[in-house]
Amino acid sequence: MHKTVTQLLLAGGLCLASLTAAGAAGPEAIPAPPPEELVLELWNPMAFPQEEAEALPDTEEKVPQLSALLAWEGLSEEQQWALAVRMEREPALLERLEQGGLSDAQLVLLALPNARTDRLDRYLAWREAHPEDSPENAVFSVNADRDLAFYSAVSETVDPAGTVVLVNKHYALPANYVPELEALGYGYGSGSLRPEAAQAFRAMADAARAEGVSLRSVSAYRSYGSQKITYNNYLKKYKRSVVDNFSARPGHSEHQTGLALDINVASSKAHFENTKAFAWLKAHCAEYGFILRYDKGKEAVTGYRFEPWHYRYVGVDIAKACMEQGLCYEEYLALLPG
Ligand code: DAL
Ligand code: ZN
Repeated sequence: MHKTVTQLLLAGGLCLASLTAAGAAGPEAIPAPPPEELVLELWNPMAFPQEEAEALPDTEEKVPQLSALLAWEGLSEEQQWALAVRMEREPALLERLEQGGLSDAQLVLLALPNARTDRLDRYLAWREAHPEDSPENAVFSVNADRDLAFYSAVSETVDPAGTVVLVNKHYALPANYVPELEALGYGYGSGSLRPEAAQAFRAMADAARAEGVSLRSVSAYRSYGSQKITYNNYLKKYKRSVVDNFSARPGHSEHQTGLALDINVASSKAHFENTKAFAWLKAHCAEYGFILRYDKGKEAVTGYRFEPWHYRYVGVDIAKACMEQGLCYEEYLALLPG
């Protein structure tokens, strides 16, 4: 399923409500822009009766700048409203605007709900390098770190123990991170996962079995140490640039989160994508909170070739948003409000 970024952002209103399930840390969804009269009334000091103006002590101070925004030609009302909301939240940005420190091009980018202010320079650099790309695409691409070469600017992942943790070629887990684990148990294949993921996998395997489909884990949690051995063993046989397409460097494997597993096979040669089990997983994995993590067509974002066997637990709401909208996890996160 392919959609433009604009369509996704619009659809975002729908899915982003569930996206805030991305955790307590997730930002709140930006309210829908109000009708024109209300915008004008909100930011017009003359429209406020005295008592109300007093109840909003800093409104008066902000009005001239926000009015300037409203008057700025070329920005739609939605953009103006989005900027007002952002500046309300980020007073430093309003100060920058007051001092004439924000160009039209920057304002257009910042008006996008999923823009991250601290990535503004990266958005501009992307636009310069890809003049044909829309501002929406620039923000979407940079939010997914498409502007960074893999492993070139690694950060330690935020909240390693969160079920929504992002682990990829830009975000690493601490070497000593070991999650709470639970064995999958007899009949479900080998290995352990975090309790919530183990439970979800067993429920999914039971449902599949009832429909004549067998799902078994062939690799679930892997420690930093075991990933290091696996990766280094591949390096003895293949060039690093080849290995990086299918094996994560230690600290960068989702298997270390205890939230990911390989189902039935773990090799391209098996052509798992042509099996009944794969078709079943594609149709139902989200109902159990899993996503197909490294899908075909997403190689430039994930950095991995198609792995039809690798599934990641993210919870039902996020899994449904990703699977129904054809988004890989990086893309899903890139659409979250900034
Ligand atoms: N094969 C996946 C990318 C891993 O090594 O985690
Ligand atoms: Zn895997």
